Amino acid sequence: MSGRARAFGAAADDYDRLRPAPAPEALGWLLPSPDVTMLDLGAGTGLLSRALAAEGVTDVVAVEPDDLMRAVLAARGPGVRALAGTAEEIPLPDRSVDAVLVASAWHWFDHERATAEVARVLRPGGVLGLLWSAADPGVGWIAELGRVGRVEAPRSAPTMTGEFTVELPAGAPFGPGESRTFRRSTWMAAEDVVAMVGTYSSVLTLPADAQAEVRRRAREHVEQQVGTDPVLVPFVTAAWRTVRE
Ligand SMILES: C[S@@+](CC[C@H](N)C(=O)[O-])C[C@H]1O[C@@H](n2cnc3c(N)ncnc32)[C@H](O)[C@@H]1O
Repeated sequence: MSGRARAFGAAADDYDRLRPAPAPEALGWLLPSPDVTMLDLGAGTGLLSRALAAEGVTDVVAVEPDDLMRAVLAARGPGVRALAGTAEEIPLPDRSVDAVLVASAWHWFDHERATAEVARVLRPGGVLGLLWSAADPGVGWIAELGRVGRVEAPRSAPTMTGEFTVELPAGAPFGPGESRTFRRSTWMAAEDVVAMVGTYSSVLTLPADAQAEVRRRAREHVEQQVGTDPVLVPFVTAAWRTVRE
């Protein structure tokens, strides 16, 4: 795992409090039925696992390599089985789950190895669903907040502004993919919008003084551009799904 992929644990509490869970409509679109065994891969603090539980999914297993992220997940998602592991070595038997969902984490995985592992643990006909949720960069002040806040998306994450596709490795046993985006808005305290910027790996891996400067500039931007507290923050969830052959 790269330094950025390992950076999140340092901000686990803020991450869980401030990052957006996937839009519920996206889960409805991805899931065949709530009556299934679901794997939340790269589960972090369990934002997706808890959203799945809220949608009525009773059998959720979460795999997450970072001990600090997994500790928050275990504490706040009591109905979820939380396992230490990675996407490249999933600690589950062959054909043991009906769906694998990955929220804001696919871009951190080794895609060759993770795709082979997902194909191994999924039952035929099972769904692989990839999601990314973020403040909507299609809205001007959010795009500018990302720039002043030095939020840099990894290359393989979608731009979140339109149609997108995900290329799986050649020969992977999955059908054609389809994508959709889901939008909603949430009121947040202005200070929380600023703190949310600090939960991105591109910021977490900066030296402490540079992180403080990022927060200062983000606060100034929110005050000048939005000028209200609380702030109505537009969020987008980009979702992509394919079916195991
Ligand atoms: C941006 S966070 C997303 C967490 C969570 N899925 C969510 O939606 O909030 C990325 C997560 O991927 C995890 N991660 C990074 N590399 C991984 C890998 N190779 N296998 C599994 N998880 C990984 C990190 O530890 C981190 O918790």
